[in-house]
This record gives sequence, C-alpha cells and structure tokens, in this order.
Amino acid sequence: MPDPPDALEALRRENDFLREQLERLRAGEDPTEGQGLLQLFVKHSPIYAFIKHVTPEVSRVLVASENYADMIGVPGSQMAGKTMHDLFPAEFADKISLDDWEVASGGGILHLDEDLNGRHYTTIKFPITVGEKRLLAGYTIDITDRRRAEEERRDLQASLAQSDRLASMGMLAAGVAHEINNPLAYLLVNAESLVEDLPTLLPELTGAGAQDFSNRLQEIISGAHRIQRIARDLNTFSRQDGLELVPVRLQDSIEHALNMVSNELKYRARVIRDFQPVPRVMATEGKLAQVFLNLLINSAQAINVGKGTGKEHEIRVRVWTENDQVCAEVSDTGSGIPEDVQPRIFEPFFTTKGIGFGTGLGLSICRNIVSGFSGEIGFSSCAGQCTRFWIRLPAMHGEPLSVPTPPRLHSVEPHVRGRVLVIDDEPGIRSAITRILVRRHEITAVGSAEEAMALIMGGHGFDIIICDLMMSKMTGVEFHAWLVDQDPDLARRVIFITGGVFTQGTAEYLSLVGNLRIEKPFNTEEFRKIVDEHVLSARDGSES
Ligand SMILES: Nc1ncnc2c1ncn2[C@@H]1O[C@H](COP(=O)(O)OP(=O)(O)OP(=O)(O)O)[C@@H](O)[C@H]1O
Ligand SMILES: [Mg+2]
Repeated sequence: MPDPPDALEALRRENDFLREQLERLRAGEDPTEGQGLLQLFVKHSPIYAFIKHVTPEVSRVLVASENYADMIGVPGSQMAGKTMHDLFPAEFADKISLDDWEVASGGGILHLDEDLNGRHYTTIKFPITVGEKRLLAGYTIDITDRRRAEEERRDLQASLAQSDRLASMGMLAAGVAHEINNPLAYLLVNAESLVEDLPTLLPELTGAGAQDFSNRLQEIISGAHRIQRIARDLNTFSRQDGLELVPVRLQDSIEHALNMVSNELKYRARVIRDFQPVPRVMATEGKLAQVFLNLLINSAQAINVGKGTGKEHEIRVRVWTENDQVCAEVSDTGSGIPEDVQPRIFEPFFTTKGIGFGTGLGLSICRNIVSGFSGEIGFSSCAGQCTRFWIRLPAMHGEPLSVPTPPRLHSVEPHVRGRVLVIDDEPGIRSAITRILVRRHEITAVGSAEEAMALIMGGHGFDIIICDLMMSKMTGVEFHAWLVDQDPDLARRVIFITGGVFTQGTAEYLSLVGNLRIEKPFNTEEFRKIVDEHVLSARDGSES
C-alpha cells in the first residue's frame, strides 16, 4: 500500500489528467490523437476494441485493445500504424479492409460474425468522422464458448427429441402388435383347423361346394397371414433392443421395413430388390429396420404420387459386400436433393417438408443408429433426378458370405401322447391351443397362474407347460419363478407364448432361464411339432 503522501500525489496526478482530457474534449480536439481518455478506454477494454483510419486502399490501426495479444499474438500497443495485411491472413485482411471502407465511407453500422483460427467472433463496426478523416471504430467479442454451449444445448435437445420419437413409435407399435396378435392367434388356428376338420364336420359337403368352402377358408387364412406379417414387422420396431448387439441379417431388417411401407411405395414406384448373399452384421434388428424405414419413407416422399402412378419411378434396394463391409443402399428416382440443401440434411430438425410432414429427425436418427453399429452412412444426389443413400457396416468376423435361413423344424417320430398344461387368460387362445393339440395330447387348460399352481400342488403331473407371459394377475415370469423352486425339472419344460410385448426385466429373465418362447400368432403345424418335440424330450429325460 502506498504511503499517504504518495497516494495523495497519485490522486492529484489522476485529477490533473482527467481535467486535461475534459478540456481537450470541450475544445473539440480529436481525442484519438495523443494520449486521450478514449485511448486508455480502448487500451484496457476487456472486449476487443479498435479505432482505425480507413482509405479505399488500406485500413490502418490507430488504437487497439491490449488483449489482441490473445487473438492474434500482437498486443494493441504494437498494432498502431499496422495495416490489416500486416496483422491478418491475406484473404481475411482483404475482407476486413473492404468492410471497413464500406462502413467508413457511410455504410452505417455493420454487424458481422466471423471465424478466425477455429474461434468465432462477432463484431460491430461504426463510422466516426473527424474533419476530413474517415475513421472507424468497433468492438469484437469472442463468442466461441457461447456458440459451443448453444450447440451442446441443441444437440441435447435433438437427442431428447430423437429418443422421444423412437420411444413413442416403439410404444405405439408394441401396443398395436399386442392387440392384434392375440385375436389373430385364435383366428388363424380356428381357420386352419376348420380346413382340416371340414370332411368330418360336413361330410355331406362334396364336389364344387366343398371346394368353394375350402377356397374361402384359404382366403381367410392368407389374409390373416398378411396381418400376422404386418404385426411381426411392427413388433420389430417395438422391440426394446438392449445395448447388446447380435448377429443380424441385413436383408431381414430391410424386408421388415419394406413391409411396413409397402402401401406408401406401391402407388409411387416399382420397388426393386437386388440382394446379394452377405455375411451378417452386429446390430439390433429393430434399429436397423428403423434406418431402412426412414430411408424408404424419404424416398417415397420424394416421389410425387399420381404422376405415372408408380410406373415410371423406381426405388431400388441393394445389398452387397465390399472388402470386409456389408453395404446396402436405397436409391430413388425422386426429386433429388438440391445442392444448397445437401450439407444440412443430417442436421437434427432440418427439413424441407412442411409442418406436419417432416420433423427433420429421420436422417439424424439413421446416422446415430448406424454409427452406433460402427458403420457409416452417406448419400449422393442429382437435384431433380435421383437420390442414393448408402450404409456400410463391418461384416461379422468369420461369417461365410451367405448365411442360410435356419432350417424349418422337422416332425418328430415316433409320436408320444403327453400331458400338457396350457395357461392363458384369453379364453380364445386356450380353446385354440386345445383344438390344435387335443388329438395328439391330453390337454388341461386354465385361465390363470394361480389355478395352474393349485393343480401342480394337488399332485397333477404334466410333461410340459405352455404359459402366456402377460396375464392380468400373476405373470408368466412370476409363475415360472415359483415353479423353479417347486419343480426345477418341470420349470425347464415351460414354453412361453407371447403377444410380443414384454418389459426389459422380462426379456432379461427369459434370456437367463433360456426357455423357449413362441410368438403369437403361431403357425399350427409348427406349433404342433414344437409341442411334440418337447413332450418327447420330457419323456426321454424322465426315462434316463
Ligand atoms: N430420398 C430423398 N430425396 C429427396 N430429398 C431427401 C431424401 N431424403 C432426404 N431428403 C431431404 O433431407 C431432408 C431431411 O430428411 P430427414 O429424413 O432427416 O427429415 P424429414 O424427412 O424432413 O422429416 P422426418 O424424417 O423427421 O419425418 C428432407 O426434408 C429432404 O429435404
Ligand atoms: Mg424423413
């Protein structure tokens, strides 16, 4: 701390200095010349500040704040007299000089955002006229941190919106699939068993009459199979795909997506599949299907419906391998993407579609999903002609080029009549299962896990149990956990049936216990075979 006399002296000097500056200002002198107050103001300014003398040829610094040392490594005190070309890269200096002259020669206030050496700046320039001289003053603020924070907030907002969209789509799909699958299961089983039982039920019906009856039933069955495929495809999107990646056939995901949008596509374009045999990739089927769904919808939306009614346009889906990568592309002969739009299409919320038609999230979701599988996504497009989106994913190690589809189940000989307990709270499902199994096995069907527990506790023996997972009171999982304690052998012989919806907890339980799970609606023949197999192996197990 200075001694009192020194402090007094300092105050007096300060006072003299201020008075002198004020007098110079009052006298109308140019305060930018000499050691003016203004000069000190600029020198110490915490934001970048400058005053320049500007001619059409050159823009030269008169005063600048010291902190320019942070921006360009030269403090304000060493900038006086320097031109823009002395201080900045040539191209940038050209631009500054041009802007400076525009402002100083009467262009008014200029507000601009600029990037230099990876940082963002916002600058305000304004003219000062002192006699004949054209001067210019301004401020520059470093907004890099603010920009980054804004970008982070935007990214966060986008990722929240993305997961929201995925979650609500998944929930909707799951709900619809579940509601459809239960009634569909007994519709199919009854129609199929009617075909089988027709000669016994209506022996008097022969010839053309019988044929007509059977044809109508077949139509019901094929319609129901179509609903089944749609429900399965919907289910792919609802699946609570965990973080764990599993081997997935790319073609299957594409087929699920194609089925979902077939109606959208068929009035717009011919859909061409060009699938070469490829190894599987590590992914989750639902998310991969989501990628193709988004790409296919974009293609459909790029083609005007009505014109050519689907004849002249083409949407082509290709799958092939290149080096160690599995590649797929969706291309269309739609509107194409204008060049000025191309750099932005992967940005979250960027859309060229009107309100209610696009949220601009489709492609950003695709990119997130694909990069989550260590893959890449890209595109090429000719405005007005065509667009091609491609993805590349690493092929699974040691996979043969072509992966055959799993073999269908073979029937098990010889047939053994078993005791089968069916637990389902839907009466329609109970009677459908009973109907398809009753000739081969002894069936006991109950509507709740509690009734099943009473039977087991009462000493009823069963070879296998077919149990619904989602029941209104006790769930299939809770019942199974109880059975594991009571009779672990029988617990291993439980086959779960499901309408497609289950929680993460249920999924974890099922993968832990490893019991077979069959999705409703089931194919009558395959269902019988599975039950036969299980009964046979239950008997083998108890004999050995
Ligand atoms: N196949 C395509 N043909 C022409 N333009 C396309 C195509 N695919 C994407 N685009 C352009 O890219 C933009 C962004 O696509 P994106 O799928 O991310 O969002 P969106 O389709 O607009 O909305 P959302 O998918 O959320 O419903 C689209 O608005 C469109 O301009
Ligand atoms: Mg889209």
